[in-house]
Amino acid sequence: MSRPAPLIPVSLRVPAALLLAGALALTACDGGVHGTPGARGLRDPYFPKMGNGGYDVTHYDLDLAYDPDAGKLSGTATLTARATQDLTAFDLDLDGLDVEKVTVGAHPARWNRAGQELTVRPHDDLDEGRVFRVTVVYSGTPKTITDPDGSQEGWLPTEDGAVALGEPTGSMAWFPGNHHPSDKASYDLTVTVPESLQAVSNGELTASRTGGGRTTSHWHTAEPMASYLATLAIGHYDIHRTTTADGLPVYTAVDPAEADASRKVLARIPAVMAWSEDTFGPYPFSSTGAIVDREGDAEYALETQNRPFFPGAPDTETLVHELAHQWYGDSVTPRTWRDMWLNEGFATYAEWLWAEDHGGDSAQKTFDDLYSHGEDDYEDLWDFPPGKPSGAAHLSDSPVYQRGAMVLHKIRQQLGDTAFRALLRDWPTTHRHGTADTEDFTSYVEDLAPDEDFGPIWEEWLYGEGKPDQP
Ligand code: TRP
Ligand code: ZN
Repeated sequence: MSRPAPLIPVSLRVPAALLLAGALALTACDGGVHGTPGARGLRDPYFPKMGNGGYDVTHYDLDLAYDPDAGKLSGTATLTARATQDLTAFDLDLDGLDVEKVTVGAHPARWNRAGQELTVRPHDDLDEGRVFRVTVVYSGTPKTITDPDGSQEGWLPTEDGAVALGEPTGSMAWFPGNHHPSDKASYDLTVTVPESLQAVSNGELTASRTGGGRTTSHWHTAEPMASYLATLAIGHYDIHRTTTADGLPVYTAVDPAEADASRKVLARIPAVMAWSEDTFGPYPFSSTGAIVDREGDAEYALETQNRPFFPGAPDTETLVHELAHQWYGDSVTPRTWRDMWLNEGFATYAEWLWAEDHGGDSAQKTFDDLYSHGEDDYEDLWDFPPGKPSGAAHLSDSPVYQRGAMVLHKIRQQLGDTAFRALLRDWPTTHRHGTADTEDFTSYVEDLAPDEDFGPIWEEWLYGEGKPDQP
């Protein structure tokens, strides 16, 4: 329940518009109205309700406990944020779970829920530029969300625990936040589970203690992370720690059922990292690794930051793909979901280049095969252009992955190998730990070779409907 409000009692069932009117009346009494409510979504072209306006989160501090037998999560989320406008109210995204209490700064705040929007009305207006903390105490059985494409994300109960996967909208199932890739933040996650289980997340494990039958672990993610890349895997895992030749910590967590099948491929992480650094430039994060769950617990791999998630032992191509995402997607993050091909086109191209550099097919051969009979393997290959997916249900379809990689190969043909190899390193360096959209990328490419005309590539390969006339 919301705390009794000092001046205007507000029932949880009052529509948001009335609540906001109440906020205006309230602030009028204590110093004049100068703010407005933050927008209730960032109008992403594919997920318009995701994210919120009026503030920027800089840090998430999540303190969670999970009871796998009861399937119950309880949490306190403390977000540090900066107001980007004068605010009378702002929204967080949270789907499901029961909110018990919300505070902003030192004061209890009033709040209201409607769908995925948790509207928070602080006791005092927040001036533009003001750094503030909002704390949400919540609990319940977290939801599994079905994606527009039918896949499952959010909170996925497993045989022996649960795993949280967030692309594109799943993270609102387990913590309140500004759930849009354009707002990245650092994270601290403290999680308590029964002592027989492990809890693995992003970043580095900085502390762990066991007592009273429970283990509390603290994970710290210093580099900015988009919330869709946050993960939490709770269950029985074999933990293995090593370092790369450069001394980068490698932390792997493997479901014992997958241990034998994973051993060889995970032993390649240092080699894949070395090739990736050579190809994509300095690694943007302070540790690497992998989480391998039991086959059947989830349907897809995901490039969760620092340590990608795999549903069962991955093959080398998938490992290469998910580690390449650490540069393309995790460090340079798409500004909206329309820019998804910047993730998947590069990660797919990384697989092509890995093959080319390790005695397999050249990227040119992969491209030619796809051009001449790609629709045998990917029947939807020419259904829509990578730069403009036909809908939220199609963000993980082959025009985004394979045709996205084909766009990069066309750029390579025009730039030449040397300049293209430099692009693969410099683009993630330029936008390290930031966000970028498709236009940032096309103008970046044009600036690399001002005398070249890339227009036909953009028109036919990136934005053109149907199969381009020429390979
Ligand atoms: N990004 C993942 C990969 O290619 C795949 C994926 C998982 C995905 N969930 C998604 C793609 C939701 C689009 C939307 O490694
Ligand atoms: Zn991918």
